[in-house]
Amino acid sequence: MKILMVCLGNICRSPIAHGVMDDLIKKEGLDWEVDSAGTGGYHIGQHPDLRSIATAKKYGIDISPHKARKFIPADFKRFDQIFVMDNNNYSAVVSLAKDAKERAKVKLFIPENQVQDPYFDDALFEPVFEQITTQCEKLLKHLKKENE
Ligand code: 4NP
Repeated sequence: MKILMVCLGNICRSPIAHGVMDDLIKKEGLDWEVDSAGTGGYHIGQHPDLRSIATAKKYGIDISPHKARKFIPADFKRFDQIFVMDNNNYSAVVSLAKDAKERAKVKLFIPENQVQDPYFDDALFEPVFEQITTQCEKLLKHLKKENE
C-alpha cells in the first residue's frame, strides 16, 4: 500500500499526517509506504514548519527531515491512495488527474470534513495534530481491512 498525504504548502498539515501514519505503520510492522506533497510550490525544499516539528516531537514523532515538494501528475501512478486535507487541495489534485481511475484515488483525508490550515494561527497546531492522529488511526484500520 502506497499512501500520499497532500496539503497546500507541504510544511504544516501533510508532513504531520505523513509522520503520524509512518509511525503507526512501523509500529504495526507493515511494509507500506507513505509520503507527502503540497499543491502549491511556495515552500519547495523547506523542512516542515517549526510549529509542526515541535508538536509532533511532543508525541515522539520526528518529522524534521522531510523536505517539501509539490504534487506532480506522476504521483497518481506511484500511489494507491491520495489523501487531501481540504476541498481546495481536492480540486487542485483532481484537476491534474487524466482519467477516472486517477480521480478515484483522491479522497478527503477526513471524509465529509476538512483539516483546517494552521499556518496563520499558532493555537491550531495542537488540535490539528490531534485531529490528524485520530484520523490516521481510523484510516489504518480501514485500509488494513480493505487490504485483507
Ligand atoms: P499547509 O499550510 O498547507 O498545511 O502546509 C500552509 C503553509 C504555507 C502556506 C499556506 C498553508 N502559505 O501560504 O505559505
